[in-house]
Amino acid sequence: MKPEEIERMRDEALAAFAAAGDLDALQEAKVAHTGGTSPLALANREIGALPPQAKAAAGKLVGQARGAVNKALATRQAELEADRDARVLVEEAVDVTLPYDRVPAGARHPLTTFMERVADVFVSMGYEIAEGPEVEAEWFNFDALNFTPDHPARQMQDTFFVQGPKGTEGDESGVVLRTHTSPVQARAMLDREPPVYIVCPGRVYRTDELDATHTPVFHQIELLAIDEGLTMADLKGTLDHMVQALFGAEMKTRLRPNYFPFTEPSAEMDMLCYVCKGESVGNPDRPCRTCSSEGWIELGGCGMVNPRVLVACGVDPEKYSGFAFGFGIERMLMFRHNVEDMRDIVEGDVRFTRPFGMEI
Ligand code: DAH
Repeated sequence: MKPEEIERMRDEALAAFAAAGDLDALQEAKVAHTGGTSPLALANREIGALPPQAKAAAGKLVGQARGAVNKALATRQAELEADRDARVLVEEAVDVTLPYDRVPAGARHPLTTFMERVADVFVSMGYEIAEGPEVEAEWFNFDALNFTPDHPARQMQDTFFVQGPKGTEGDESGVVLRTHTSPVQARAMLDREPPVYIVCPGRVYRTDELDATHTPVFHQIELLAIDEGLTMADLKGTLDHMVQALFGAEMKTRLRPNYFPFTEPSAEMDMLCYVCKGESVGNPDRPCRTCSSEGWIELGGCGMVNPRVLVACGVDPEKYSGFAFGFGIERMLMFRHNVEDMRDIVEGDVRFTRPFGMEI
């Protein structure tokens, strides 16, 4: 084993590493010059076969050569990795100052999330969500609900007529945009056998001009329960539960006598003002903007389903009774969030919608 040969092997290895232009080339040179079949590895293996007196010198010679080769390999490896890292930083750089072109995320409308929240209160009590058409037969919107033919609500001033009654026998009913969600009560009773427990959120229409407090398209939630032995106490308990679930445990409702053709007796329902809890009443030091220091906020209408409606919808009034209520969502939303202009709710500007947060 000649020193010149070992040195040549070493120098060839060093030259190959120096010549490797990238990490792949270096890997090839590494296999060729340090792998199991490389000249230096073979030389190392031959040491064992040498006479004992030659072993030490040969071991030192080969060992030093291999040490130098490994060191040169590591140095070149580090150099090439640093080159690569520097290149990647330049070639794959992302300009974070460029304008982005993603479509900005929208937001769910607070009307939708609030209606879902109210409906959820009843779904968790076992009520079913019911729906009906917005373009509705006049019969469902009015006649089935005991509105007499000359009831003022039918007049053109309130109701969008899509098609007037033809007046021919058997076709007396016109087609309207539903003016309330109450026709879904009639549809629900005709579709099902009692007991009936439904809640119906939906869009309704009236011939109002859009202004700060009116909109021709708005939303209501309707509720109907038909069962044996239901009383006004069940209605009151259900209303109290609803406002407690929505606004807090200390909430309650109150009923004031009123008239609706489809409920008898009927009532106007108020809920305790959830801001002052009634404490602003007669207390000039603590005025409440939300309820104008009335202590109560008007919610909507309710009552015991009129037996005439039960009969029109195929329910036996001797066996079953029921209660119903309905209220407008926009008004609730305006109270709840101090929205002063109805147009903000209607226009769908995401700058109005977004602050309500993303509720799914
Ligand atoms: N439909 C009525 C309206 O739009 C509200 C209403 C009153 C609904 C009494 C009811 C009810 O279910 O029982 O003004």
